[in-house]
Amino acid sequence: MIITKDIPSAVDAVNQLKKQNATIALVPTMGNLHEGHLTLVREAKKIADKVAVSVFVNPLQFNNADDLKNYPRTLDQDLAKLEQENVDLVFTPTPQTMYPNGMENQTTVFVPHISDKLEGKLRPGHFKGVSTVVNKLFNIVRPDFAMFGQKDFQQVAMLKQMVDDMAIQVKIVTVPIVRDSEGLALSSRNGLLTAENKTKAHLLHKEISGLAKAIKEGNRDFEQLKASARRSLDSTGFKTDSIDIVDAVTLDTITEQTRTAVILVSAYLGTPRLIDNITVEL
Ligand code: PAJ
Repeated sequence: MIITKDIPSAVDAVNQLKKQNATIALVPTMGNLHEGHLTLVREAKKIADKVAVSVFVNPLQFNNADDLKNYPRTLDQDLAKLEQENVDLVFTPTPQTMYPNGMENQTTVFVPHISDKLEGKLRPGHFKGVSTVVNKLFNIVRPDFAMFGQKDFQQVAMLKQMVDDMAIQVKIVTVPIVRDSEGLALSSRNGLLTAENKTKAHLLHKEISGLAKAIKEGNRDFEQLKASARRSLDSTGFKTDSIDIVDAVTLDTITEQTRTAVILVSAYLGTPRLIDNITVEL
């Protein structure tokens, strides 16, 4: 496994792989790797000759200084896990490497509309930080495939639009949410849960599964469904940030044309803010 920290050596390593005519799948991550990330790596192995993983806690996408400070950083353990998965190339830059002229001077990529709604409205600047860093990673690694988790539903939708709009020659591959045995979506932020909250966290998935079931059974009173889910979560110790039921393709209000809806939820449980989603065929 080749580990590179700077851009020129990452580009050199990629050039070596390309010389062998190998196809490359990139798995962008912020580290603190869990089975969710490793599932992306395993799916990448199935479709490409070589797998590259980036580990970079991207300051440009954090709109909250405490969240950035508290974000778990476990590079040594991450590298051991990637070694075990037989990853070919790991890119672990520092913020200085990625933003040598400072974040405020960095050229940015912004995907309009989709970046400003839902999660984007709650976290101003977040999606611009994601599209910018992913664009830069794509330019360094020039992958044939890039793997993203459905857990960050809006993120994948936004990145697909970026790739289309900018004619980036990469295929975005989406991987379903990996959950623990109780249904909690795996997340690096789960490690910030207190012991007591760990036992409650799975209620987030339970709640949106309940909404999905109601919608499947024909309930279309979305406002009432959202309000009751919010009440139920808040009464068990969550501080619900948002619950949305939208068209899974446009991420806009559901219309007669909507085939698939997505229920998106974000809620604080103590310090960490957890997110989850589920799709429903209408
Ligand atoms: P991070 O939160 O580390 O996630 C890296 C990738 O793993 C994302 O595509 C995310 O959706 C996926 N992932 C995380 N938990 C998952 C789970 N339980 N099941 C399936 N996939 C899961 O998302 C980011 O980093 C960053 O925004 C990034 C794209 C790396 C840009 O900085």
